[in-house]
Amino acid sequence: MLILDNTLYFAQGTTRKCYLHPRDPDLCVKIPLQNQLKRQRGILRSIERENTYYKKLIKNNISWSHLCQYHGDIKTNLGTGSIYQVIRDTDGEIASNLEHYLQQKNFIRDYQNQLIIALRALFAYMVNYRIVTTSLLPRNIVLTGAPNNFKLTVIDDIGNSEWLKVSELTTALTIRKIRRKWHKMLTNLQAKYEGLPKSLIDDVLNT
Ligand SMILES: Nc1ncnc2c1ncn2[C@@H]1O[C@H](COP(=O)(O)OP(=O)(O)O)[C@@H](O)[C@H]1O
Ligand SMILES: [Mg+2]
Repeated sequence: MLILDNTLYFAQGTTRKCYLHPRDPDLCVKIPLQNQLKRQRGILRSIERENTYYKKLIKNNISWSHLCQYHGDIKTNLGTGSIYQVIRDTDGEIASNLEHYLQQKNFIRDYQNQLIIALRALFAYMVNYRIVTTSLLPRNIVLTGAPNNFKLTVIDDIGNSEWLKVSELTTALTIRKIRRKWHKMLTNLQAKYEGLPKSLIDDVLNT
């Protein structure tokens, strides 16, 4: 059994706490939050869904250039956890998520072009390898390489939450779903953050 403690803890999202793996600095272990009994079943279901989807991606032999790799589950002193690759920045620090950067003063103004190029690259990657996400949110995407070599990597909410996986029936339907998620994220970004170009959706999705 793997022993996790607070010295290894580095972040928390909406459903899980993230700990560094005690023996491998390139891995992290995510543990479902315990204190939301009512939500617990839904949380476990979404984790199970993500793990199933990851197995499919592994089988399809995709490139992991913009997606953190999943390395199976493990028993810990805090319950069963899922192991993932940690995305580290060029200086070795754990990468910060895109929301963190977007909230920084002048970030959008100073790095608009780089940001758009990086978003375009991530979108192309997801279309190329048909990677579907249940949600697509800036806090589930980490940014590395700032200030001059931006790269975005998806770290959470991979998979398809449809009951009947309609969007997986054909490539065209899968791509349409990916585009819809992107359209929604970009629309939300424009509403929330000042300084993004009016042409953002076109700039990212139609090139
Ligand atoms: N593999 C990872 N590499 C680097 N940072 C990560 C990684 N996974 C999560 N994080 C950071 O931890 C935060 C919460 O993790 P996340 O997986 O989104 O939790 P939840 O499933 O609860 O939403 C993310 O917003 C991100 O900043
Ligand atoms: Mg998250």
